[in-house]
Amino acid sequence: MSEDSPRLVQLRRNGAVPRHIAIIMDGNGRWAAERGLPRSAGHQAGMTSVRETVEACLQSGVEVLTLFAFSQENWQRPPAEIDALMALLEEYIAREAAELRQQGVAVRMLGALDRLTPSAREAVDHIEALTAGGRALALNICLSYGSRAELVRAARSLAQRVQAGELQPSAIDEAALSAELYTAPWPDPDLLIRTSGEMRLSNFLLWQLAYAEFYVTPVLWPDFGRDDLFAAVLDFQNRDRRFGRVST
Ligand code: FPP
Repeated sequence: MSEDSPRLVQLRRNGAVPRHIAIIMDGNGRWAAERGLPRSAGHQAGMTSVRETVEACLQSGVEVLTLFAFSQENWQRPPAEIDALMALLEEYIAREAAELRQQGVAVRMLGALDRLTPSAREAVDHIEALTAGGRALALNICLSYGSRAELVRAARSLAQRVQAGELQPSAIDEAALSAELYTAPWPDPDLLIRTSGEMRLSNFLLWQLAYAEFYVTPVLWPDFGRDDLFAAVLDFQNRDRRFGRVST
């Protein structure tokens, strides 16, 4: 896909793009099954879509991209699939870290990272440190992530601060809770994309998606490319976002 994609030209002409896009990357298993391949082949193919999506965000001026790569519930998958996903994470980091840094992409991994293997944890620390100065795009990869667990963690942290006398209960407001979430440094997502046609949130960013626009595409994640991201942004640009108010 060149710079001249008609959709890219159109979305630039339209003006405002979403500052923050979140994506539930779904359908890797079905993509593999359709080809008689093991599920891990679908996850492998899904890495190319991650690269395409990052490029599309850089081209269109999106500031933050948050990807759901591995949920807390995914720990219940067969051990062989978990091993394949962890190996893929390390492969992704080894393959992409230098280019992401060069492109100004700051990578952060969000979730219960203490459950990762020591070598996966080391790889995560490496890419976060290497890319920390990136200013073109913040790329958040949710790993071992569950939104309810994130909210419980935030509530516990606020309770501890109250107990320590640092915080008055009356000072706990929406901003105080948001500040305890993994996503604290970034604005809430404007647009949530889910691939493979499923209409579920799957315990992803329950608090942060309060006012996001949803875009569900039947495209399976390994088939999702730049032009699909541009199509989602074009659709977003036609939405009437009211945040509970009435249109002007
Ligand atoms: C959901 O498809 C996808 C996942 C659980 C893994 C997502 C991982 C990648 C896209 C590759 C790795 C990316 C990085 C950044 C390391 P599914 O297996 O639930 O598909 P199904 O619903 O068709 O079975």
